[in-house]
Amino acid sequence: MDGMNFSDKNQCPEADALVYDDGVKARVDHLYERVKDVVTPMEWPKFAPLVDAILRLKQERGATILAHNYMTPEIFNCVGDITGDSLKLAQVAAEADEDIILQAGVHFMAETAKILSPNKTVLIPDMDAGCSLASSITGEDVQRIKAAYPDLPIVTYVNTSADVKAWSDICCTSSNAVQVVESVARQWGVDTVIMIPDEYLAKNVAAQTDIKILTWKGSCEVHEMFTPQDIDDLRAAHPDAVILTHPECPPEVMARADFAGSTGAMAGYVKDKSPAKAILITECSMSDNVAVENPDVDFVKPCNLCPHMKRITLTGIYEALRDLKHEVEVDPVIAQKARASLQAMLDLPKATTPPSFETGKDAVAVPYVAV
Ligand code: 13P
Ligand code: SF4
Repeated sequence: MDGMNFSDKNQCPEADALVYDDGVKARVDHLYERVKDVVTPMEWPKFAPLVDAILRLKQERGATILAHNYMTPEIFNCVGDITGDSLKLAQVAAEADEDIILQAGVHFMAETAKILSPNKTVLIPDMDAGCSLASSITGEDVQRIKAAYPDLPIVTYVNTSADVKAWSDICCTSSNAVQVVESVARQWGVDTVIMIPDEYLAKNVAAQTDIKILTWKGSCEVHEMFTPQDIDDLRAAHPDAVILTHPECPPEVMARADFAGSTGAMAGYVKDKSPAKAILITECSMSDNVAVENPDVDFVKPCNLCPHMKRITLTGIYEALRDLKHEVEVDPVIAQKARASLQAMLDLPKATTPPSFETGKDAVAVPYVAV
């Protein structure tokens, strides 16, 4: 494969024909050092030729890879250019210099990148990498909510389709949800805000603010699986561990944790505090990626896999860059309206470190919208 010109598609081998030869070893084996605690020596010979080919294709194509914190460690650590939580990836997508953005994440993230960078080519390795939150609500649902509550602002989680964003007033992520709710309530001069579609995020935000919240019956299929009993059992088994949860978890789970925040906030906490032992109540790859950065922290890993995130593989990334597929398109009219909701969020002051949620709070009543 040495000297191969990837611009000529006929010269690009199938993924399984890539071999772990001396050239590949010389070029990428140093990367194994970084991931050796989370990628086995048996796996590396399969990953290395793909990593090598992806790094070369990225250069040839002028592409950048945005990798979410839930990507597997060989993607996150070996080929990702920008890594982080949903907010950071959205901010970077809006400012990227490269002509091609490859989203190593799920479809709503790629769509967000396309909305914010309409003139760029945005690729996703698997168009079916969805999200239970994004599929819980449609643009028509939001139009019905708007008609029923014309005087209340609609705050929409970024984990939604472009069409849903288009009918919303402002977007939020788990990194800025409380800030967005409070600022939009101030701006509209109201004491109640509609926050869709994640009922758990809405309830967790409601416990942090005096603003009243109405929500939608949507949830993350990964985080809703964690129960208060899980946390009690983990606490009993590991009394010396710090327990961190994501705000997509049910409120009774978050209330029992020591820390709660977005994936970026969780990673920041572990880096800053360097606890002896940590338990991240979230998607499985997160602990592996945070462990790479924090080799002295002992991680207990009671995680749930996101089947959508796991559709993104090194093979898929290689084929996407090789064949310039699968291109994410958004209807320009919808994109323009969705961009206004995203931009309203991005225009808020940026926090220097992702803010956390206070844990141990009592549950607050958060009704569903009546539509
Ligand atoms: P954050 O990275 O914004 O915390 O989001 C988590 C998530 O579930 C994305 O799918
Ligand atoms: Fe969606 Fe949950 Fe998977 Fe994130 S972890 S993509 S919110 S299903």
